[in-house]
Amino acid sequence: MTHQVRAVVARGKGAPVSLETIIVPDPGPGEALVKIEACGVCHTDLHYREGGINDDFPFLLGHEAAGVVESVGEGVTDVAPGDFVILNWRAVCGQCRACQRGRPWYCFSTHNAKQKMTLLDGTELAPALGIGAFAEKTLVAAGQCTKVDRAASAAAAGLLGCGVMAGIGAAINTGNVGRGDSVAVIGCGGVGAAAITGASLAGAAKVIAVDIDDRKLDNARKLGATHTVNSKEADAVEAIRELTGGHGADVVIEAVGRPETYKQAFYARDLAGTVVLVGVPTPEMKLELPLLDVFGRGGALKSSWYGDCLPSRDFPMLIDLYLQGRLDLDAFVTETIALDEVEKAFERMHHGDVLRSVVVL
Ligand SMILES: NC(=O)c1ccc[n+]([C@@H]2O[C@H](COP(=O)([O-])OP(=O)(O)OC[C@H]3O[C@@H](n4cnc5c(N)ncnc54)[C@H](O)[C@@H]3O)[C@@H](O)[C@H]2O)c1
Ligand SMILES: [Zn+2]
Ligand SMILES: [Zn+2]
Repeated sequence: MTHQVRAVVARGKGAPVSLETIIVPDPGPGEALVKIEACGVCHTDLHYREGGINDDFPFLLGHEAAGVVESVGEGVTDVAPGDFVILNWRAVCGQCRACQRGRPWYCFSTHNAKQKMTLLDGTELAPALGIGAFAEKTLVAAGQCTKVDRAASAAAAGLLGCGVMAGIGAAINTGNVGRGDSVAVIGCGGVGAAAITGASLAGAAKVIAVDIDDRKLDNARKLGATHTVNSKEADAVEAIRELTGGHGADVVIEAVGRPETYKQAFYARDLAGTVVLVGVPTPEMKLELPLLDVFGRGGALKSSWYGDCLPSRDFPMLIDLYLQGRLDLDAFVTETIALDEVEKAFERMHHGDVLRSVVVL
């Protein structure tokens, strides 16, 4: 059997997205069909639409989603119809060299659904990050579904599927922020704001938010920043050093993805401190640093893919903290919108008006 559902499709480079009817197959072995309840609009969806990821148009956009499993294919035991799940793009394989060494959060061979979703004329769709959840239903690998407590709001829970997890994980997993640490976060959009929350959850004593937009800084303060710096008005490196006894922060998280902000992060950390790059650069960007400074300042320069998260470990734990009132995921939901408003949401994201617009179905 197949299902005809409404979905948001990007047909060509830079062209506005369109609402289309697509065909979703019933789940085959190892797959799950998920009825989507909510899906956040992430910068990466816009990158896809602009052809910045690859040229595999048409794309089925959307990947920060939560919903209910409708049916599962042969051999699926981890999730069952009726389960409330967050979708992830790290269904670990258990067999690659990372998994075999006990580091599944780096899995180099993650699973997606094998069958293709298509347009009505049979054209195969490429789902964003192997998910494609701006749709009434989507087909994924069962491992892409992580069961969490049904009591959570779908709009808030879905955000853990990408940007918010990337930010929280950049702090707690990659940056290994600990009690008493000083942390600076450069760029306080959805990802950076989540890094601030993560640092705060991990017990950081000082959390310095840096952005060029005062609206983002006001928000950062609500999410746990103890200090804010508008780097249009003040030198970010000087300001962070001043706020940390002249030394720099123990951990600096770069959540913009540009060489100039990476350099700020590099020089704003204390000796032997850690830089975490969670912002995603574009192919033409280059970084130049004196190699002697790289050596002389010591410490660790790390990149964070998806916050080095392990969905099965991290999603249920973070949803529990949310339900206990210790993690304000609702604060990331600036607005809820309908499926046909994704294009408008891209516009608002581009102008920096939102942390997240979330499609609610
Ligand atoms: N590593 C991952 O797994 C992962 C996952 C999701 C998103 N990302 C990436 O994280 C980055 C941030 O995503 P987002 O959703 O928060 O985007 P966003 O557009 O919501 O936020 C970017 C923020 O950076 C600020 N900014 C821009 N230029 C700046 C500058 N020069 N100095 C200081 N601040 C500046 C903006 O004002 C904005 O607040 C993007 O590059 C995105 O692709 C990474
Ligand atoms: Zn693996
Ligand atoms: Zn995303």
